[in-house]
Amino acid sequence: MLAEFNRSLILIADRDLLMANIASKILQIFGVDRIAVFLLNAETDKYVLAGKQESEHFCRLHFTHHSKLVNWLSVNETYFQTSRQSSVMSYFSDSEQELIYRADVELIFPLKAMNRLNGFVFLGRRSDGKGISGEDANLLKLLFDHAAFAIENTALYEEQSARIRKMYRADRLAMLGELAAGAAHEIRNPLTTIRSTVQYLGKGMQDPDKLDMVNELMEEVDRINKIVQGLLSFAKPSALEVDKVDILQLLRQSLVLLSNTIARKQIDVAFDVHTPSTVVTADASQLKQVFLNVLLNAVEAMEESERRQLTLRIEAGRPLDYQSRYLLISITDSGKGIEPGDLESIFNPFYTTKSEGTGLGLSISYSIVSRHGGEMEISSLPGRGATALIKLPQAM
Ligand SMILES: Nc1ncnc2c1ncn2[C@@H]1O[C@H](COP(=O)(O)OP(=O)(O)O)[C@@H](O)[C@H]1O
Ligand SMILES: [Mg+2]
Repeated sequence: MLAEFNRSLILIADRDLLMANIASKILQIFGVDRIAVFLLNAETDKYVLAGKQESEHFCRLHFTHHSKLVNWLSVNETYFQTSRQSSVMSYFSDSEQELIYRADVELIFPLKAMNRLNGFVFLGRRSDGKGISGEDANLLKLLFDHAAFAIENTALYEEQSARIRKMYRADRLAMLGELAAGAAHEIRNPLTTIRSTVQYLGKGMQDPDKLDMVNELMEEVDRINKIVQGLLSFAKPSALEVDKVDILQLLRQSLVLLSNTIARKQIDVAFDVHTPSTVVTADASQLKQVFLNVLLNAVEAMEESERRQLTLRIEAGRPLDYQSRYLLISITDSGKGIEPGDLESIFNPFYTTKSEGTGLGLSISYSIVSRHGGEMEISSLPGRGATALIKLPQAM
């Protein structure tokens, strides 16, 4: 089992899969009743429950670098046994102590690699009622030290592939943007001529059938115009008019515009705000367009869902430098989600899976967010929903 444990550390490149594997092997080998792994999230710089662990005690919990527990583990680089080391326990904050008692945690191990605390592990008790021996605890420490390196590797691997994906996407969209700008420009002028000519021809027309045709022509021309307009706002967005903007307020305003649909479709909207400061310097009307696009997509994706839940989360991201950080805005729906194979295409102009879609919403949003010095990503659990993450620089 130990040999297999080590092999899986080498072979698995997916972090969630690796975590699940480590957890199940540890439970199996040592017969403990419970394990919870917290990992450092590179985006928020907080320690959060890793992967898709189901745990009533820990799910909504996170630890920051100010945590006494994090501090102790970083400095001491070793595990500790809650029932035997009361002096260590008394160093922790009251809420941490309470949590440890309530969740009946017996051992806590650091996950340290490259001289950095990447996470830690809470272990419960042995199911057979026996205590965990010092020898077992030492062996566990050894295993978790190995695991910490494997986890660090998967994190580095994921970071690198995300960076490459982002680079390719930026390149591709820049090229498409140039192409689109050229095409839109060429289409716009003749279209103006067509529109005014058709309008002129319709003026003295008596025959109702022919008048219908002319009106239909006008409608189609207007439709093309709209698409060209959309293309231009993706390729050549108007200059930013920046001011202080409260993102929370802007999200609320965007929701108001959709309030009819939200009420009619019985969509449950929840705000989850984790930072006192939600103000950024940005172009409010352009950002509103981004939020509207994303919210509309979310609403449309939940068309056939049984449970319609929209969660808007705002939190502070890790510092970018000593005076700014990202503000993280995520909009999560419980809709049909996006297949992994389609995830890279959704930002392409004209990519749509809807019969009435233009496929321009996300490409325009992406270009607006980029022009703000931000980033935009969408992740999804197919069949369960999608999350749009928008990162905007914020002074601190
Ligand atoms: N929240 C979401 N859930 C599922 N699919 C989504 C979501 N957001 C975007 N998509 C997918 O991305 C495609 C492109 O979105 P968008 O650029 O807004 O164009 P449109 O909405 O006109 O199709 C959509 O057609 C849909 O397939
Ligand atoms: Mg859309």
